[in-house]
Amino acid sequence: MANRKPLIAGNWKMNLTINEAVSLVNSVAEGIKDHQGMDVLVCPPFTALSAVKKALENTPICLGGQNMHWERAGAFTGEISGQMLTDVGCTHVILGHSERRLLFGESDEAVDRKISAAVKLGLTPILCVGETLAQRERGETLKILETQLTGSLAHSLKDKAIDPKLIVAYEPVWAIGTGKTASPHQAQEAHAFIRKWIRSNFGNQAAEAMRILYGGSVKPDNISELMAQQDIDGALVGGASLKADSFVGIIKNSQG
Ligand code: 13P
Repeated sequence: MANRKPLIAGNWKMNLTINEAVSLVNSVAEGIKDHQGMDVLVCPPFTALSAVKKALENTPICLGGQNMHWERAGAFTGEISGQMLTDVGCTHVILGHSERRLLFGESDEAVDRKISAAVKLGLTPILCVGETLAQRERGETLKILETQLTGSLAHSLKDKAIDPKLIVAYEPVWAIGTGKTASPHQAQEAHAFIRKWIRSNFGNQAAEAMRILYGGSVKPDNISELMAQQDIDGALVGGASLKADSFVGIIKNSQG
């Protein structure tokens, strides 16, 4: 890995009550207190953001949302704006997660709008991309990644500039919640492709600085071989981020 600071992020999805969330971050903060050299982020459900923010005071752990609307405010029943995320203390937001794309019909165009809105607010977007099993079996993985990157970063392509903080997460859909991790070689191939795409569209500096996370059944016992790959700069962890011991294990093992 180049000079990029690793990031281990937990996507809690639709899990945990407020009390459970606070208890989890308290344990994680305790578990990593002597552990430095990487960034750690948790993305709780909206209902727990405020309480988790409070629990994270005096810890180095950052707070992120799992989604947002691109408008600042208005008649959008059931939605949360980026401004609301910054207001509650978020610094990051996951955008275009495959569950949003596949279960809630989120298009690349919607993800693009959200990314632009997040960047304007100073939120760091974590743009998720990844292929389904059928797409991989048809040999379409790299083509799908290119389509998702092109569509989800359309505004950046038009402006010929990308937010230097933007993070990409490669999450093969077939590896999410299935216990099937992409092999380090499969993950590295996708990450290298993403970095090459960034390089050809936004230049070498943007490509070298960009952190690309792997997501999909990351566990304490598979993180180190993933992190050993040149273009893997961290992980976006689902199930294993819901238990302090496994999330702390991933953070500790990610440094080899
Ligand atoms: P799992 O770690 O549960 O496979 O989930 C990955 C994920 O979707 C993170 O965003």
